[in-house]
Amino acid sequence: MPARPTPASRRTVLRGAAVTPLAGLGLTACGPGAGAAGAPKPTAPVQLGAESEVAKGGATLYREHNVVVSRDDDGTLKAYSTICTHAGCAINRLQGTTLICPCHGSEFDARTGKVLQAPATEPLNELPVKVAKGRIVAGPEA
Ligand code: FES
Repeated sequence: MPARPTPASRRTVLRGAAVTPLAGLGLTACGPGAGAAGAPKPTAPVQLGAESEVAKGGATLYREHNVVVSRDDDGTLKAYSTICTHAGCAINRLQGTTLICPCHGSEFDARTGKVLQAPATEPLNELPVKVAKGRIVAGPEA
């Protein structure tokens, strides 16, 4: 015959149930304090790598500056901030030309900044980019 729960064990169960709905919605993972949320994006031009680091049709992620630079087939460079537009995490993974956010799995095209996979809905912020003395420079007023 099963034991009857004591009043203390019922209280424990109820307390646990009150917390469960928030965890079930994943709210704890989306706040500004989650992961790398709130990571800085360039506020001034930053020197990245050599121009030769970005192949035609490819992309290079500069994690330390939160910038990705891609080059289309005609050789034009594009740069985007890699601060995720969903909740502000720093995107730290580039697979081919797909950027993958570590926080909730949004994916972006490094060549266009467009969202490939939700939950993000807004494209990455494009940054001015130029080449100076063989080095890629990106960021506001580059
Ligand atoms: Fe949520 Fe990037 S911060 S997917």
